[in-house]
Amino acid sequence: MAPHIELNDGNQIPMVALGTGRMTAAGASNDEVRDAVLWAIEAGYRHIDTAAIYGDEGEVGQGIADAIQKGIVTRKELFITTKLWNDKHARDMVVPALKESLKRLGLEYVDLYLIHFPVAVKSDDSPDNIDYLDTWKGMEDAKQLGLAKSIGVSNFNQTQIDRLVANSKVKPAVNQIEVNPTLTQEPLVSHCQALGIAVMAYSPFGFLVTRKSEMAPPPRVDDPALVKIADKYGKSTAQIVLRYLVERGLIPIPKSTNKERIKQNIDLFNFKLTKEEMETINKFNKNIRVVSTPFWRDYPNFPFERT
Ligand SMILES: NC(=O)c1ccc[n+]([C@@H]2O[C@H](COP(=O)([O-])OP(=O)(O)OC[C@H]3O[C@@H](n4cnc5c(N)ncnc54)[C@H](OP(=O)(O)O)[C@@H]3O)[C@@H](O)[C@H]2O)c1
Repeated sequence: MAPHIELNDGNQIPMVALGTGRMTAAGASNDEVRDAVLWAIEAGYRHIDTAAIYGDEGEVGQGIADAIQKGIVTRKELFITTKLWNDKHARDMVVPALKESLKRLGLEYVDLYLIHFPVAVKSDDSPDNIDYLDTWKGMEDAKQLGLAKSIGVSNFNQTQIDRLVANSKVKPAVNQIEVNPTLTQEPLVSHCQALGIAVMAYSPFGFLVTRKSEMAPPPRVDDPALVKIADKYGKSTAQIVLRYLVERGLIPIPKSTNKERIKQNIDLFNFKLTKEEMETINKFNKNIRVVSTPFWRDYPNFPFERT
């Protein structure tokens, strides 16, 4: 099982989450998501990451119900994260949106509710001018009502984090951002950690697997420098990358719907990388994103570089 990190509100977050988002990597059917959640809980995962926009909260909920029904875990032992989509950013839409997510998940509360993106859109995906500080008030309402034990954000940049912290009653417990060997994000990660905001690392493999384009930057799954480290510890290169993230105090969210790889992706806690090995992986950084959302680049509050 993965160890826990204490969040700034006193709640405990397990250090590895199963990713269930289906649009960013290789697609999976919803039935596969249900099985993946059950297999993950059987393998020792206690943290599952989903989002309203993934369209799979129902199947995630079924996988959770299967695991509880089989007596593997209780609800209290699980940590479930879901996210508010961009077209529900008005303060009075947040709690109803969370209630819809809870209905789909078959749960009475989530452990962590995140603003998925700082960008607000209307239902036709055109830009909406809602300040994320207003959205955050809705998130505070959700916490106050006990519908979310912890609240946080995703894809917020440093300026947005600082503005949120300076202007809110409740500090975000988490910022979920992309971190992997090609996008190491040292400044944003250190900034969040210094503020006591835990960082969840999405797309943790970067371009290691399944991004088949010839143009995809290194490291790939057979990269010699990674293979050398993997062979030393008797692990896969995927495990080396996840361990690298864990050693930076991050919470990686590997997505898999394959039973063996699901097991592999939490088998990270019986070895430790050296400083030199961490540095070898850091050197792959190219500030290239897997998830760049260019379609919102001219919208207010776009969080990434506009190049
Ligand atoms: N907040 C956000 O905006 C945001 C954005 C993107 C993603 N996310 C979250 O982060 C999660 C992960 O990101 P992601 O899905 O983009 O990418 P990822 O987890 O980096 O990569 C997933 C891919 O890696 C393969 N894989 C998994 N374990 C492997 C292993 N041990 N060896 C070789 N291949 C392996 C999977 O295939 P198999 O399934 O066949 O194993 C899948 O194709 C998402 O599911 C979602 O929950 C959040």
